[in-house]
Amino acid sequence: MLLLGFADYLEPAKALASKLKLPFSLVEVHHFPDGESKVTLPVSISDTVIICRSLAQPNDKLIELMLVCATARKMGAKRLILVAPYLCYMRQDKAFNPGEAISQQIIGEFLSHYVDDLITVDPHLHRVSRLNSVVKLENAISLQATQPMGEFLNEKFTAPVIIGPDEESRQWVSAIAGQHGWDFLVAIKQRFGDRSVKVELDDFDFIDRDIVIVDDIASTGNTLIKTAELLLSKHPESLSILVTHAFFVDKALDKLEQLGVRNIWSSDSVLHSTNAFSLVDLLAPNIENIL
Ligand code: R5P
Repeated sequence: MLLLGFADYLEPAKALASKLKLPFSLVEVHHFPDGESKVTLPVSISDTVIICRSLAQPNDKLIELMLVCATARKMGAKRLILVAPYLCYMRQDKAFNPGEAISQQIIGEFLSHYVDDLITVDPHLHRVSRLNSVVKLENAISLQATQPMGEFLNEKFTAPVIIGPDEESRQWVSAIAGQHGWDFLVAIKQRFGDRSVKVELDDFDFIDRDIVIVDDIASTGNTLIKTAELLLSKHPESLSILVTHAFFVDKALDKLEQLGVRNIWSSDSVLHSTNAFSLVDLLAPNIENIL
């Protein structure tokens, strides 16, 4: 068996190979001046190949994945397991306007055509609850980062209050708080557009408490900014943020720091300056389970 990785997600892929005690090989990716990609696999391929790459900024990566999978099959690979700690295109799960593509279904079908198994973490599913109804594979496995998140926070705080910024986050905050017996609250969020949200929260005594907002993804960061503004007005001891997938576009990190957020942490599903813990101990046993 062999684990294939890419230069843009090197350390987490190498760490995963080492945890699984598998040889690691790099897929070389060349970008031609016109924007096309060429991929080069190692000359010798095993029967089972694990491909590990985060699918953030995905457009080129999906084409490269297709090229890698087709080439690996040609070279004799029988089973291709994709480990994508961040899985792209999962948000657009319906056509909100006539003519809009339902990207989730199309990309799900694409992936199920090229790989035999898929493992990811906290995919952004809204109206669809199960990943294998989108990626139609027996092993389309969606893991939650709540265990490593809880362990990470337990090293930092004694009794934090965990805040979920919207109803969707209840699953994560209740799991994390439940593991350790911590308080948690879930806010009510209204979204008015890609960059506009309103957040409301029930009354709670936050004075002198360490608060941690937990969410699956920080994209524009507006959800976190609005939630942080509300919480900071309630005089906590500290306010921190922990997310699985860190994008923080539009200078969101600067805005959060200026507001007075003390810590901003994320998993290494998307490589980012806020990365604070690895997903390797979550991924490795789940890969071993399907081998
Ligand atoms: C919402 O469903 C998600 O869990 C996140 O809260 C949301 O996608 C974050 O987006 P943004 O950072 O742009 O507010």
